[in-house]
Amino acid sequence: MKKYKVGIVGATGMVGQRFITLLENHPWFDITVLAASARSAGKQYKDVGGKRWMMDQPFSEKTGEMVIMNATEDVEKIASMVDFVFCAVDMKKDEIKALEEEYAKHECPVVSNNSAHRHTPDVPMVIPELNPEHIDIIPAQRKRLGTKRGFVAVKSNCSLQSYVPAIFPLNRFGVKDVLVCTYQAISGAGKNFDTWPEMIDNVIPFIGGEEEKSEIEPLKIYGRIDGDVIVPACEPHFTAQCIRVPVTNGHMGAVFVRFENIPGKEEILKIWNDFKGVPQELNLPSAPKQFLNYFTEDNLPQTRLQRDLEGGMAVSIGRLREDTQYDYKFVCLSHNTLRGAAGGAVLLAELLCAKGYMD
Ligand SMILES: NC(=O)c1ccc[n+]([C@@H]2O[C@H](COP(=O)([O-])OP(=O)(O)OC[C@H]3O[C@@H](n4cnc5c(N)ncnc54)[C@H](OP(=O)(O)O)[C@@H]3O)[C@@H](O)[C@H]2O)c1
Repeated sequence: MKKYKVGIVGATGMVGQRFITLLENHPWFDITVLAASARSAGKQYKDVGGKRWMMDQPFSEKTGEMVIMNATEDVEKIASMVDFVFCAVDMKKDEIKALEEEYAKHECPVVSNNSAHRHTPDVPMVIPELNPEHIDIIPAQRKRLGTKRGFVAVKSNCSLQSYVPAIFPLNRFGVKDVLVCTYQAISGAGKNFDTWPEMIDNVIPFIGGEEEKSEIEPLKIYGRIDGDVIVPACEPHFTAQCIRVPVTNGHMGAVFVRFENIPGKEEILKIWNDFKGVPQELNLPSAPKQFLNYFTEDNLPQTRLQRDLEGGMAVSIGRLREDTQYDYKFVCLSHNTLRGAAGGAVLLAELLCAKGYMD
């Protein structure tokens, strides 16, 4: 199979570093460009990324010797060097929106971790196992942008990558109301305990913008294509509290669900166990074999024990039981910088390649 040349825009950041670890030995993708801000541009990756590297495994010598390009000034050049880019940058929302469209208009598809385009009606926001059909909006987006190849596709926020996958396959019972409390790792803020010592022995009951994202983004994933736009669903109703907890990686959710037709516990467990999406059917390189994994032990899933399940791409669920006010409650866990960020974006890019959108 042909290898796609890819760029990482935001390569020095937390998510950018994850991209590097996931792409260095990827069977379909070759890292051709690393880009970041003007602060880093022109320097070798080892001289910038090296000091800030937070991953367990080191980057390769080849990556270390690459010269970082300027993500905003070199768009035309970068677009000419790659088949598509992954984008994860810390900039103002309107700047990111414009930058991603600029890449797209230079006929360079963008697979983005940023939130800027998540609610643009013709930009698909995809969890590949749940709503892969939303990528079929891309021709409409290309029409708007006036491009042949270029487009923007995004992944959703990391907070919802544990509970939405668990709830989505239960749609046949009419999921009405979902209440979730998330317990989110500090890497979700691009930090570790060295860079955020205030988080040691501490819990912070606020993550800016996160509750809104956790409540609104699922409705786009549940939405449907209508003409040239994706129309968000009106149900289920989501309410969320998002809390920062002192763990390095892994977002946990404690979930309460109300149904129109209440399923039996065994029915739910069977649906989770049997669930397969398009990534599993197509055997995409980053797809977990078993996406939803139920643990019967009362003290599982645990962040440290299960976050890396199937390379951090699987979702772990446990403690399903009836509730006194809702119908059921359970807990779920996903790795926020793998499934929730770079890994989810790599899987989306694989889906886009498999469906011919990167050709
Ligand atoms: N961390 C997570 O778990 C997570 C999960 C999902 C989504 N996200 C999203 O992913 C994005 C990046 O997050 P992160 O945690 O990786 O942030 P980060 O560690 O702060 O990294 C930010 C990156 O953006 C680059 N950058 C900053 N200003 C720039 C500019 N003016 N022009 C070009 N590049 C610029 C930085 O380059 P320099 O090093 O040169 O400054 C760096 O590469 C954010 O939108 C975030 O919301 C993060």
